[in-house]
Amino acid sequence: MKQAKSANSGKFSLKSVVSISDFSRPDIEAVLLMAKKMEGTSRAKKCKLLDTINVATLFFEPSTRTRLSFETAAQNLGANLISVADGGTTSQKKGEAVSDAIRVVAGYSDIIIMRHFIEGAARRAAEVCDKPIINAGDGSNQHPTQTLLDLYTIEKEFGKIDGIKIGLLGDLKYGRTVHSLAHALSHFQNVKIYCIAPKALKMPKHIIDELRGHVWVHETEELDEHLAELDVLYATRIQKERFPDPLEYERLKNTYILDRSILEKTKPIFRIMHPLPRVNEISQDLDETSAALYFRQAANGVPVREALLFLLSKQVKK
Ligand code: NCD
Repeated sequence: MKQAKSANSGKFSLKSVVSISDFSRPDIEAVLLMAKKMEGTSRAKKCKLLDTINVATLFFEPSTRTRLSFETAAQNLGANLISVADGGTTSQKKGEAVSDAIRVVAGYSDIIIMRHFIEGAARRAAEVCDKPIINAGDGSNQHPTQTLLDLYTIEKEFGKIDGIKIGLLGDLKYGRTVHSLAHALSHFQNVKIYCIAPKALKMPKHIIDELRGHVWVHETEELDEHLAELDVLYATRIQKERFPDPLEYERLKNTYILDRSILEKTKPIFRIMHPLPRVNEISQDLDETSAALYFRQAANGVPVREALLFLLSKQVKK
């Protein structure tokens, strides 16, 4: 956490967490520093921090890690929790607009964590609601809290984020985690981003255009030729549910499959990250190797989400 301590005085300026593009580097560092503090604080101390706060989770798309780690975080901090795990059981089925649902849930809670399949749904929610909104994923657009835990994981593993050489692999077109992560990395110094994807699943051009000028970016279809340079390979699932054409998914689904053989070409410090769930991208024969960072990465979701809830709770009038 060296860099977080030196560059940041703990200032977090955001009222809601909608897009990673709303974050300055000090905002990011404030979250990472607070997450580190959360990891070092006993459960007995933490459980009073949010004991006057009501947290709502509202998920209109499937989730395991994101919802459960947010709910664990809220409960660790002593918050009251109301939860919709399956938006299909809500009045959305009757045709209720997201904005109405948010206005209603805001009457029951102080902080709302939401996941929705419509891009921009969280932004809309933040516009109609005066309570903090946390975007837990909006379509293929953004997943800012995943990015914060990804950055926290990199910093914990490598001691810093500056200078990292990272490959983003797989579905860079529809994968919201890599959209947010690439943007966040552009705040750091001397980072190299290798966007490795089949032509049909390339990183959207507007994101590449935004990155250029801030960070070194290289687009390629070839994984092998860059493996030796990478510190981290961030693999992603091909986002089946976002393909308009199922045959196109079938054509692309096994483009990259990582197995133990890749470690013959990589550096000793090389690590594989993945937001999970994985399908075929990472063979289980990598799970017990030192390169496998993905399960520890998932566990980091709890302190990072505790940090976010705590920082946002300061906005809530008691
Ligand atoms: C990701 C998501 O929902 O975008 N999962 C997660 O939140 N950990 C990645 C994915 O579903 O492929």
